[in-house]
Amino acid sequence: AGPTPTELRRLAVEIATAAGELICAGRPDRVEVAATKSGPTDVVTAMDTASEQLLRQRLRSARPQDGVLGEEEGWTAGSSGLTWVLDPIDGTVNYLYGLRSYAVSVAVVAHDPAAAPDPATWTVLAAAVVDPSAAETWSAQAGGGATLTDARGTRPLHVAPGPALGQALVATGFGYDAARRAEQAAVLTRLLPRVRDLRRIGTASLDLCAVAAGRVDAYYELGLNPWDFAGGWLVAREAGAVVTDFAGGPAGSHGLLAAGPGLHPVLRDGLGLG
Ligand code: IPD
Repeated sequence: AGPTPTELRRLAVEIATAAGELICAGRPDRVEVAATKSGPTDVVTAMDTASEQLLRQRLRSARPQDGVLGEEEGWTAGSSGLTWVLDPIDGTVNYLYGLRSYAVSVAVVAHDPAAAPDPATWTVLAAAVVDPSAAETWSAQAGGGATLTDARGTRPLHVAPGPALGQALVATGFGYDAARRAEQAAVLTRLLPRVRDLRRIGTASLDLCAVAAGRVDAYYELGLNPWDFAGGWLVAREAGAVVTDFAGGPAGSHGLLAAGPGLHPVLRDGLGLG
């Protein structure tokens, strides 16, 4: 028999915690940018690489037959039909500047072993998002709920239906692509006068966990990569949030909108996010 979702969740928490300790302890006062990716705003630090290597090494020994899709090293195929989707530092820009909102996100998905894992068709089985500077661990398993663990213990997460639009605190984020940022600015112009306020936390996985905990009422972003949202997606979903793309289909790079079941359709239909 294959691993149970509980076993997968435990492993996700274990390795994300280890990587979280590594990046938090290893954060010097001044972090050097090791390289840029799509453009000068899209940076990678030596610690992104070290964190992904730690995660991959732990997975190679615990689950050698599984695939791995990581932000820094791409996809390594496996034979089991399971792939681990890794963001070794989500919120790299915060990390670089010493802002205390960054996370390690680990999700394990089931997919057609003959093809690369695709958010439109995969099933997320278990996930962990570790926020080392806040000492918070978010985790979830498919059909088994979502929890937050901190110094006070572990508690289940349940999303409320959501307030009226005018009372909604809405988080968003911006990808690194300049043309897309212009589109995002246009959406902001429509949205800002109609909501309580906006937040740009800078860490997609933690934005989704914030929806799960009711720390924000909604989160939307266009142009995310699978590793940015796979883990937080399950935490938000298992907490009872509705998480789709802007048209109501599976969340993905064409847009992600997460909110309580009352607020979600209002945001989706009322704001022309698509
Ligand atoms: C980024 C963060 C950010 C979001 C970007 C992501 P990274 O991930 O999650 O909040 O707005 O779209 O790319 O590059 O720090 O792993």
